[in-house]
Amino acid sequence: MKVGGIPRRTIWLESDGWSVGIIDQTKLPHAFVTLRLTTVEEAAHAISAMLVRGAPLIGAAAAYGVCLALRVDAGDPALDRAYDTLVKTRPTAINLRWALDAMRAHLKALAPTARLAAAYKKAAEIADEDVGINRSIGEHGLALIRAAASRKKPGETINVLTHCNAGWLATVDWGTATAPVYLAHEAGMKIHVWVDETRPRNQGASLTAWELNNHGVPHTVIVDNTGGHLMQHGMVDLCFVGTDRTTAEGDVCNKIGTYLKALAAKDNNVPFYVCLPSPSIDWTINDGIRQVPIEQRGGDEIARITGRTDDGRIETVTITPEGSPVANYAFDVTPARLVTGLVTERGACAASREGLLGLFPERRPNR
Ligand code: MRU
Repeated sequence: MKVGGIPRRTIWLESDGWSVGIIDQTKLPHAFVTLRLTTVEEAAHAISAMLVRGAPLIGAAAAYGVCLALRVDAGDPALDRAYDTLVKTRPTAINLRWALDAMRAHLKALAPTARLAAAYKKAAEIADEDVGINRSIGEHGLALIRAAASRKKPGETINVLTHCNAGWLATVDWGTATAPVYLAHEAGMKIHVWVDETRPRNQGASLTAWELNNHGVPHTVIVDNTGGHLMQHGMVDLCFVGTDRTTAEGDVCNKIGTYLKALAAKDNNVPFYVCLPSPSIDWTINDGIRQVPIEQRGGDEIARITGRTDDGRIETVTITPEGSPVANYAFDVTPARLVTGLVTERGACAASREGLLGLFPERRPNR
């Protein structure tokens, strides 16, 4: 995706050939700041403090974090320590563990002297794979947008609602939920996105709006409680959201508030699609509500809010009374029955075990 007209990814190897470049997403939308990660500790901090965030991107960042650790020590104990440091940074997105498992399994099979080069190669493959997956999700999602357009009068705008940021910034490139939108926009379709602000961290208002703006995709930021009203008035044609972890039965864990949008969509017959890269599927669990660990973050994310003042200063203010307790659940689970379809890199399917296994037959037991 482009920033100021220049194509960029969200994570890259710097020209020194070893340090890792990222965009500090905590500074967006008011400043575009890039940073160099040089140690595994910096990579872990970037993930836990959400300088990088979004399930696929934290997977790629963790993979590069392993590379940074191996620069210091490529032995087995150091590799295990890097794994343990990184896997603890955020609990919900399964991509983090998926990427770390892939790195460790690949590297453990090699002699320590061969590991560093192999780690950088593998991390680059994980990043490239994400780009390819998201592009394919975009193509399958585009077919759904075209189907929605065919149900409307010619020339009418197609309205998509999205929650959080499952965009370019949440992945290495393209995004998952935004990939179909970008492709529809490129194809010259009239598309408009309702962007949920996504309290408490405002990933919609700060990040999704920023990327759509950069690309000239028409959009409108709404507060989180608006979606149901819009759906009741026929102002949403379809919803596209991302996921941090989807179970083998098709339950979808995503940013807090996704469930309420799915309920409203169901009540108003609005198709609700989840854009699902295969590394976000947790084949080991079935029941999302009981089995997905839900991250709880610090109360300041609720009690305080950061923004730009009219004279350009970035300020943080408190919005709750002193002494009021707050609770910050970062994700929720949308049961499969509320999901119209899962859009994967291999196509769209029902949110069910059979739907997923139809696309990923290699996951059938006893094959
Ligand atoms: O807490 P965040 O910002 O990492 O949460 C991000 C989301 O919930 C995204 O929807 C999800 O990771 C999918 S990103 C393609």
